[in-house]
Amino acid sequence: MDIQCTDEELNLFERIGKVATQLNVHCYLIGGFVRDKIIGRPTKDADIVCTGDGIALAHAVAQTYKPALNVSFFKNFGTAQFKVNGFDVEFVGARKESYRSESRKPEVTEGTIEDDQLRRDFTINALAISLNENDFGKLSDPFNGLEDIKSGIIRTPLEPGVTFSDDPLRMMRCIRFAAQLSFTIPDNIFNAITQNKHRLKIISQERITDEFNKIMMTAKPSVGLNLLFKSGLLKEFFPQFTDLCGVEIIEGLGHKDNFYHTLQVIDNAAAQSNDLWLRWAALLHDIGKPATKRFEEGHGWTFHGHEAVGEKMTPRIFKQLKLPQNEKMKYVAKLVLLHLRPISLTKENITDSAIRRLLFDAGDDLEDLMILCESDITSKNKLKVKRYLENFEIVKERLKEVEEKDKIRHWQPPIDGADIMKIFNLPPSREVGAIKTAVREAILDGIIPNDYDAAYTFMIDIASGMGLKPAI
Ligand code: CTP
Repeated sequence: MDIQCTDEELNLFERIGKVATQLNVHCYLIGGFVRDKIIGRPTKDADIVCTGDGIALAHAVAQTYKPALNVSFFKNFGTAQFKVNGFDVEFVGARKESYRSESRKPEVTEGTIEDDQLRRDFTINALAISLNENDFGKLSDPFNGLEDIKSGIIRTPLEPGVTFSDDPLRMMRCIRFAAQLSFTIPDNIFNAITQNKHRLKIISQERITDEFNKIMMTAKPSVGLNLLFKSGLLKEFFPQFTDLCGVEIIEGLGHKDNFYHTLQVIDNAAAQSNDLWLRWAALLHDIGKPATKRFEEGHGWTFHGHEAVGEKMTPRIFKQLKLPQNEKMKYVAKLVLLHLRPISLTKENITDSAIRRLLFDAGDDLEDLMILCESDITSKNKLKVKRYLENFEIVKERLKEVEEKDKIRHWQPPIDGADIMKIFNLPPSREVGAIKTAVREAILDGIIPNDYDAAYTFMIDIASGMGLKPAI
C-alpha cells in the first residue's frame, strides 16, 4: 500500500479484499480516506467502491465477523454501512452517474471503477486503492489526483460546470476543502462556481449549513468565508452576512467595512477557541449594524442599539439556516447582546455595580464573552489597540476581584418570584416581575446588602408604592 495504515485498518482492508475476490468483484478504497492518508490528516471513516452490488459485499464482509456485524443499507441508493471498532465503513457499487446528494430518485446504473471515478467531485477524492488479493494496495489515479494533492490544487475530473451541476453542493465542498486543506482553487474552477452559484438553491439548507459549519471550524475561517463571499455563494443563502459589506462615506467620514471586520473577529475567536457557537457569536456580533446605521451631522457614523437588534435577529437567522433552536441559539444571542459591555466598561469609571451587573448577566458565559470582546478589537491603529488591551486587562482584574468578593456569577437573589407571590398572595403577574427586578437591581447596584432581611424590607417598600400589602 502507498499509504500508512494501522494494523487494524490493514486487517479490515485485507478481509474486505478477500471477500471481494471470492465474490469475483473488483473492490477499491476511495475518497476522503485515501486523500487524508496521503496528506497525513487523521481519518475517521472509509469508503469502499466495488463493481456490482455494494450491499451484497457489505453483508458478506459483515458475516466474516463473529458475531456478524450489523449492516445498515439503503437499497435505493445502493449503499451499505457498518461500524467496526468505532470505524465507519461505507460500501457502494460503482456507478455511471454522479453522486447527487439531493437526488430523490437516484437512477443507479452499474458502471466500471473508471466510470465511478469520473463522476466524483474532485480529483483528490477520486484516488482509488485496490483491495483485491491479486493487486492489493495498487493505486488507481486516472486524473493525477496525487499530483494535485502535492501541488495543493482542487480540480474536478470533468469540466467543472458539469461536475458542479451534477451536484451543486460540490461548490460549497470545493471551498470547504480549499479552506480545510489550505489548497488553491484554480481560476476556471472558481469561475464555474460563480457561474453556477444560483444552482445552490436546489440544495437543502441542512446540507449547506453542514458545509458552512465545517468552514467555520477551520483554523482560519476567514479564508473559506471570503471565498464564499467572492464567489457569490454566500449571498445565495446568507444575505444578512453579506449586507455587512461596504463602506459609505459622507462629509469625508467613512466607517469600517463590517464584513471584513467580522471575518477578522471570527479568526481572532477561532485562534482562542474551538467552540463552533462562540465562532457563530463572533460572526453575528455586528449583524445588527446595517439596520441601525445612521449618519449624525457633525458626529459621524453610529450604530446605536445594534447589539440588541443583533440579538433579535439571531433566532431568525438560526431558523433560516436550520441551526438548532435550543440553548446554543440562546447562548449566541446572549453573547451578541452583551458584546459591547466589557469594552464599554473600559471607557468609564469602573464601578463595582457595573462589574457585578456584568458578572450576573454573563454568568457561566463570561470567559467566552471576554474572548469575543477581545477578538472584537481589530483596529489598525496600534496605539489604540494597545490602550484597549491594557484597559481590558484592568476590567479582567476587576471582574476577578469583585467575583471573589461577591460571588455574583452563580448568584440568585435572596427573594425570588415564588416568595413574592406567596407573601403578597399574587398570581404570576407583571407586578411580581417588577418587584423581583427591583430587589435584584438594588442588590446589584449596592443600594442594599445581599441578604434576606434587607431584601425583605426593600421589597415591602417597593410593593407598598404599588399599593400592595403582605398577606402573611
Ligand atoms: N462525493 C462526491 N460528491 C459529493 C459528495 C461526495 O463525489 N457531493 C464522493 C467523493 O469521492 C468523496 C466521497 O464521495 O471523497 C465521500 O464523501 P464524504 O464522506 O462526504 O467526504 P470525504 O471526501 O470523505 O471528506 P469529509 O469526510 O471531510 O467530508
